[in-house]
Amino acid sequence: MKIQVVSTAPTDVEADALVIGLPAETKSLPPRLAALDKRTDGFVKSVLDAEKFAARPAQLTHVHTAGRLSAARVVVVGLGKSRELAAETIRRAAAAGVRRARDLGARRVAIDVLGDRLPPRQRAHATVEGAILGTYTFDRYKREKNDKVVAELVVLSPDGRSTREVGQGARTGEVFALATWFARDLVNSPANDVHPTYLAKAATDLAKEKGLTVEVLDRAECQKLGMGAFLGVAAGSEQPPCFIHLTYAPARPRKKVAIIGKGITFDAGGLDLKTAEGMLRMKDDMSGAAAVLGVMRALPDLKPPVEVHGLVAATENMPSGSAIRPGDVLKAMNGTTIEIGNTDAEGRLTLADAISYANAKIKPDEMVDLATLTGACVVALGPLVSGLFANNRGLAGRLRAAADQAGERLWELPLVDEYREFLKSEVADLNNVGPRGGGAITAGLFLKEFAGETPWAHVDIAGPAFSEKDLPLAPKGGTGVAVRTLLAYLTA
Ligand code: BES
Ligand code: MN
Ligand code: ZN
Repeated sequence: MKIQVVSTAPTDVEADALVIGLPAETKSLPPRLAALDKRTDGFVKSVLDAEKFAARPAQLTHVHTAGRLSAARVVVVGLGKSRELAAETIRRAAAAGVRRARDLGARRVAIDVLGDRLPPRQRAHATVEGAILGTYTFDRYKREKNDKVVAELVVLSPDGRSTREVGQGARTGEVFALATWFARDLVNSPANDVHPTYLAKAATDLAKEKGLTVEVLDRAECQKLGMGAFLGVAAGSEQPPCFIHLTYAPARPRKKVAIIGKGITFDAGGLDLKTAEGMLRMKDDMSGAAAVLGVMRALPDLKPPVEVHGLVAATENMPSGSAIRPGDVLKAMNGTTIEIGNTDAEGRLTLADAISYANAKIKPDEMVDLATLTGACVVALGPLVSGLFANNRGLAGRLRAAADQAGERLWELPLVDEYREFLKSEVADLNNVGPRGGGAITAGLFLKEFAGETPWAHVDIAGPAFSEKDLPLAPKGGTGVAVRTLLAYLTA
């Protein structure tokens, strides 16, 4: 989708469809919509009246202009009550409006920067981000490709004065949304293609394309570093594991951050094999890794003054004669020994070594891991909310603020000290599982052991990583959750 920002008036823009917003509870049409109405001799207003259009958030209607305007159609999208307008209202309205335009066959779509009251830059960001997120489709594996695509998005700046800010906001929205698309593509592609080597290739390609540094460690190199926990998980798979380390290093960084993504390209459970139903969606167990790659890809375009290291310990979790057994003891890179209580609690094993690697090799000021870590987190928070765990109040607060800004839901759960005893082992320093109750918390406590003194946060995205139904900003499937939250956090 090619994005262009212009200060042309809605009445004059050439397009297959023009998307324009309408707040609820207004006595008369807002000026830009009134101008369109005037040029169509009152047609727009008559349709809105006839339909009793209430302008509820993301409510839609459209009219054909029959040559009376430069735009062939006008799509009117509701924005709800002005008092309640938020960036998320704008995102969802833009998504709905541009989707309608696309479904009508429009290839060149103009969209007014939606909403008022918010600063132009923020409105433009939300408008473009919503438009792109909402029109994502995945047809890589289909013979019949989607032929209805928006090729050009023309963003109408409200006035000449704010065009610069609108341009900057639109560009940021585009980068955030395309990074999310990138993550969605990786999650939606099946595990027979997206294996650890594929993730490493994707990382290498994006490093070359975007000017990042990349290092990929193979099994032998990970062995040398002592990553016994990560390699224990990899032991059951025919697919070779890869440890990926991407670096974005600006000239004078204000701080150094490590972002770590769980990269289990398929989670069969290992010898503690999952049920057929439990396994069905497990190609999505690399959603954390996908988000990290999406974020790394966007950083050179956004240029924040923060050094960012993206880490992924990529492997499958499979059962086989060479797989780790319940009762086995593994040694992580930081020397901690771990008794395997359940081979299906593999994510924390791979993260233990990635976090240890960050502490030993990168020494970041802060680290954040993203992981589809526990079914328990899905039970606690459902499909729309990620769990947040942290050993540092400041970092937790910054991530919550970033999530808020991005319109992604993040809810903090407590790392209850007393539950640490659930992870005690008779033979090793730690067991990799605790009891069922509080499973998301014990998983967090397990990771915390490896973070040490470094400010660290863990985001359990098991629920929101993949959606079983269409959402306002994403069709069914991989959502690319946490990409925009992390980008907001890193650019704050
Ligand atoms: N990848 C799963 C977590 C998961 C489950 C994500 C369902 C999305 C939906 C993880 O590796 C796992 O299997 N966790 C186990 C841990 C248990 C064995 C302590 C779980 O949650 O059941
Ligand atoms: Mn598992
Ligand atoms: Zn898993």
